[in-house]
Amino acid sequence: MTHNRNCPPRGNTLRRLEFPARDACGHARQPRKSGTQAALDRCIPATGWEHLNRPLTRGLNEGAALCLYPLMSTVLIEIRRAKAADAAAVAETHDEAWRNAYQGIIPGTDLEKLISRRGPAWWDSAIRKGSRVLLLVFGDRVAGYANYGRNRARSLFYDGEIYELYLRPEFQGLGFGRRLFTAAWRDLGQSGLKSLVVWALSDNDPAVEFYRALGGRAVARSSERFGTRVLDKVAFAWRA
Ligand SMILES: CC(C)(COP(=O)(O)OP(=O)(O)OC[C@H]1O[C@@H](n2cnc3c(N)ncnc32)[C@H](O)[C@@H]1OP(=O)(O)O)[C@@H](O)C(=O)NCCC(=O)NCCS
Repeated sequence: MTHNRNCPPRGNTLRRLEFPARDACGHARQPRKSGTQAALDRCIPATGWEHLNRPLTRGLNEGAALCLYPLMSTVLIEIRRAKAADAAAVAETHDEAWRNAYQGIIPGTDLEKLISRRGPAWWDSAIRKGSRVLLLVFGDRVAGYANYGRNRARSLFYDGEIYELYLRPEFQGLGFGRRLFTAAWRDLGQSGLKSLVVWALSDNDPAVEFYRALGGRAVARSSERFGTRVLDKVAFAWRA
């Protein structure tokens, strides 16, 4: 999928794009335009990449329009498997997203330990060993990742699990989380895993709201110790 650098993504995310004042490209948002101009700005010029990405992103691109702007600059947004060469960028994304999501929830020193354990070497090894890690790449920047596989909790009768789904703060609230979730869920389904569970800390309100918005049903509660603090967590589940 390609994206016009001068305008926000399309579809049901546009509603939320009136705020903040900068878009995912880091550009100041333009004042509202006439209906026709706004529609033209939302056009997605087709490129060869669109076709290359189709197997993985099939179904995620509904509504893409074609534009004939001769000099339009574009940003490629793709969802693809991580390669070992992505390890440093994934580690950086993990660091930014975790710091942002868990400050004030996980005690500071424990959060630092969790983040420092997951440096480039950890990701390099995980990717080389075949862990499933999907990236959402915006231009040349890793905007977010999801890693997933078989459900780890034997007491829960679900086949697959999304272990982590994180976006850098500036890419949140744009519909990218839903896209990554959908791509990971589809990939699990293609491996015969027809039900899915995801855990979120109960205090992580945005994540809890996100999984609810995606139709997840709260099916279990548990807790996890982080240093001196014990935090509640909730499992959301889906069935194909
Ligand atoms: C949680 C996270 C993955 C969501 O991704 P996102 O791109 O921000 O979410 P999307 O824009 O795709 O939103 C998808 C839906 O969830 C809803 N949603 C997302 N965040 C929400 C929030 N904080 N409150 C209420 N609804 C929310 C949206 O309204 C949207 O619903 P709609 O499609 O019906 O309009 C992302 O914000 C993130 O990385 N957060 C920090 C890390 C984290 O907490 N990860 C989860 C760990 S378990």
